[in-house]
Amino acid sequence: MDAPCRIQAASSADLGAVARIEATAFPDPWSAEQFGSHLGDLFLVAVAAGEVIGYLVAWSVGVEAEILNVAVAPDVRRRGTARTLLTEALAKLGQAGVTSVFLEVRPSNVAARHLYASVGFREVARRRGYYATPREDALVLRREGHDGRDGQ
Ligand SMILES: CC(C)(COP(=O)(O)OP(=O)(O)OC[C@H]1O[C@@H](n2cnc3c(N)ncnc32)[C@H](O)[C@@H]1OP(=O)(O)O)[C@@H](O)C(=O)NCCC(=O)NCCS
Repeated sequence: MDAPCRIQAASSADLGAVARIEATAFPDPWSAEQFGSHLGDLFLVAVAAGEVIGYLVAWSVGVEAEILNVAVAPDVRRRGTARTLLTEALAKLGQAGVTSVFLEVRPSNVAARHLYASVGFREVARRRGYYATPREDALVLRREGHDGRDGQ
């Protein structure tokens, strides 16, 4: 089901709202300034009723890209917003010639792992003790393919 939101490139006007969602989503949140440093990368926001309700940040080098950050506001989760953001990001990366997309995820983050699996990401490695607060391994996931619809 499509989410009732619009996906658009982030602008500096979105940074405060993005950082507020980030602070609810992670114990070690990025600041608005850190998000601002990614305005030249692939930085998408999901907007519903004029409000930012989610975001995704990625960067790419040649044919490889990394999803750096994804979150959705707690009160509007499970409505397809993150999947819509990811699908849009994967399509844009594919159009730019990216063929491999990587990301890291906590093994305990069941919601995110299901989300990534649902768009074709597969586990390729584990980084021991990668995360702090709280300390946890990272699973490295990779998705091969050219857009949000054909990768496996
Ligand atoms: C992970 C997160 C971004 C998902 O956002 P969302 O908009 O609620 O996700 P969607 O509604 O697009 O869900 C897409 C799929 O992800 C999976 N999923 C999402 N939330 C889930 C949950 N709580 N439990 C299990 N699976 C879940 C499901 O497969 C879902 O598809 P379905 O609803 O058809 O079953 C959101 O929970 C979040 O912001 N979490 C905190 C930040 C975070 O962990 N980011 C990822 C860091 S790697």
